Amino acid sequence: MLSGVAQAWEHLQRTAQELFARYGYEPVYTPLFEHTEVFTRGIGEATDIVLKEMYTFEDKGGRSITLRPEGTASVVRAALEHNLTANGTQAKLYYAGPMFRYERPQKGRMRQFWQIGIELLGAAEPTADAEVISVLWRYFEALGIPPASMRLLLNSMGDDACRPAYRGKVAAFIRDRSGGLCEECGRRADANPLRAFDCKNPACVGVMAEAPLLRDELCGACAAHHSAVKERLAGLGIPFVEDPRLVRGLDYYTRTVFEIQVEAGLGSQNAIGGGGRYDRLMQEYGGPATPGLGFALGFERTLLAMQAAGVAVPAPPRAEVYVARVEGSPDGTVFAIAQALRDAGVAAEMDHQGRSLKAQFKQADRLGARFVVIAGPGELEVGEVTLRDMGTKEETRVPMDGVASAVDTALGGRSRTLHA
Ligand code: HAM
Repeated sequence: MLSGVAQAWEHLQRTAQELFARYGYEPVYTPLFEHTEVFTRGIGEATDIVLKEMYTFEDKGGRSITLRPEGTASVVRAALEHNLTANGTQAKLYYAGPMFRYERPQKGRMRQFWQIGIELLGAAEPTADAEVISVLWRYFEALGIPPASMRLLLNSMGDDACRPAYRGKVAAFIRDRSGGLCEECGRRADANPLRAFDCKNPACVGVMAEAPLLRDELCGACAAHHSAVKERLAGLGIPFVEDPRLVRGLDYYTRTVFEIQVEAGLGSQNAIGGGGRYDRLMQEYGGPATPGLGFALGFERTLLAMQAAGVAVPAPPRAEVYVARVEGSPDGTVFAIAQALRDAGVAAEMDHQGRSLKAQFKQADRLGARFVVIAGPGELEVGEVTLRDMGTKEETRVPMDGVASAVDTALGGRSRTLHA
């Protein structure tokens, strides 16, 4: 990974950690691969991910294992295994890491990509949906993506009370209109009719525009939940667009689903993050009925969206102080000063390449150093060094063992709080 990109990665991770912590999320790490069944059961046998996109192979023991295509199934599996939601306890978890899907690569779509996501387990109230959506929205805002360039799509997938009948209606509709649909959508009537809403084929889009909508068939409880979520979001001033055809590519969703898309920079892969509620998922793994919901966002797509919006990723200075070697000054002393600064919590750098003093100053500039310590033989002889403020160009003599505190004072204590 290029260092500029790696730095952006760190920025995205740091921003997420800071924001998610404010909402009470704790980190969770799950394995990069799981028994294949974890994904087939959780994500759904008839989804594109399971049918076409998983990296599945047999290990030496003859077990079928799969590189994780997403994080939710693993997190719920882990929460159940480690009893994180025993007796109705609520668990708030976040994760970041690589995911793997065998998709046709294109801009914003990779076979190995990074996701960061949160999962809130044990929360059934609509305030939880609004909170989770607000974390995603605020995250992109915190990164500097202009709200006007984002579109939050919202829908409800219903639940066991209202979806089966609706699903039957869509299946009948597809059978009726299969002549106008692509071959795959025609076949979907039995296994996964709602996926036809997601087909990008213009003919299918045209036909599905006339298909019955779940919005009109939600049961009372799902409809009440959905309007409460919308009310909470409106109360937060988070703009959303109702998209009754948003179905998302995973089968575990019940009720709320959402996606944030951006207008520029991504072409057809314009969803930078998405998620929803999955109140039945823990039961799929044999656990007790436990509501849950969450989202995941893609790092690569988020970076593309930031670039398209002209948002620069702040690069932290790599050194606060550069300790320069001067001809004739003992190497050991320069080395010791740099080390003492680091021990005191100051980010310090020195030359290891025998550069001239001029070249060292240039290097100090490149690293973003606020100060250069000039340890010339004359100064060292009287136990002092020169401290040059690279901003004001002011130079002061300070005792050799007082560099750290002089720098600390000049930085207003910032270096210690940064590095302690
Ligand atoms: P997903 O919509 O499949 O949801 O993926 C979430 C995000 O990951 C997408 O919005 C996109 O930014 C990114 N992404 C997905 N596939 C690729 C790819 N091939 N290349 C680059 N980026 C990609 C989930 O994965 C659910 N687990 C989200 C969730 C969490 N639902 C509930 N909790």
